Amino acid sequence: MLLSMTTALAAHGSVTKTAFGTAPDGTAVDLYTLKSEGIEASIMTYGARVVSIKTPDRDGKVANVVLGYSALDGYVADKSTYFGAIVGRYGNRIAFGKFSIDGHQYQVPTNNNANSLHGGTVGFDRLVWQGKAITDGVEMTLVSKDGDQGYPGTLTVHVRYTVHHGALRIDYVESTDKPTVVNLTNHSYFNLAGDGTSTILNDEVMLPADKYTPVDAGLIPTGVLAPVEGTPFDFRKATAIGARIHDDNEQLKIAGGYDHNWVLRGNNGEVKTAARVYDSNSGRVLTVTTTEPGVQFYTGNFLDGTKYGAVQEGHAKNTGLCLETQHFPDSPNHPAFPTTELKPGEMRHSTTTFTFSTHAK
Ligand code: BGC
Repeated sequence: MLLSMTTALAAHGSVTKTAFGTAPDGTAVDLYTLKSEGIEASIMTYGARVVSIKTPDRDGKVANVVLGYSALDGYVADKSTYFGAIVGRYGNRIAFGKFSIDGHQYQVPTNNNANSLHGGTVGFDRLVWQGKAITDGVEMTLVSKDGDQGYPGTLTVHVRYTVHHGALRIDYVESTDKPTVVNLTNHSYFNLAGDGTSTILNDEVMLPADKYTPVDAGLIPTGVLAPVEGTPFDFRKATAIGARIHDDNEQLKIAGGYDHNWVLRGNNGEVKTAARVYDSNSGRVLTVTTTEPGVQFYTGNFLDGTKYGAVQEGHAKNTGLCLETQHFPDSPNHPAFPTTELKPGEMRHSTTTFTFSTHAK
């Protein structure tokens, strides 16, 4: 009797809240720790960021499989990696920070050479969200005002993180009071070795996509959906990341590695596999499923091991990989891409799940 009660409690997991410092504007930041069988994830209200995900390797040894910092000041000082953040209002790039909706032109900040990246100079990653414990997780809410970073419409965003049997699920719900564009994603850097220092180049990746969106020198899609067949972008069969990353290929050179959007098979809005990653040393496997039409596979090319402020925890090149489920970059300027426009009265919902398991030797 006692035994079965304990098991039941363990299966349900727990959600706890602790203080995680104070944001530069004086707002207190909270850290929510979500536990379920085979997973413990910590999410903070600053940027609704994933701070850690602890999962067992094939021998049951538990380690943190995402890059980050031990304290808030690291995240505040680091303005380039977006570790663990929900990026928005528009994840990835908008060419020259310009787009138009219904004949109205908008200009958003150009914070990445000539282009806008991840929502502008003060994107959602740098704001303190409202956290609320829910069953198996936390709901983070953000209201971005009309004109925030130049984007039209008051946008209300609810992001729910929940854990269940080795999986972290993220549900996004968005609504607006004026037509706007939205492209939210999570910017976690996975290091399945769990040490944050070894490179991800030996990880085997599978991306079920027949096409990807090649980019220009500013990493803006050219608009072409190019076949992956016969290129280093063909991950339809699991392949080590490092096997072709240094190939003599224009697209790899532009990005200094992989930093591209793959066009997922299946319909926009239906749950489908976006990626699988296997680290043969630890035995950890990460499977990503999503309702989004694309995934940005980024191999941490711009990580440079920099020390941020007082925090001596910079991470070196290729020590983490991102699988940012998303609409395609620069969609507002490519009418043929699935639309990122959101209209008043619409409630957009998307979901992405990161499932961790292990594979025997
Ligand atoms: C982009 C990279 C960028 C990184 C942020 C990724 O989503 O595609 O080009 O450097 O985010 O640091």
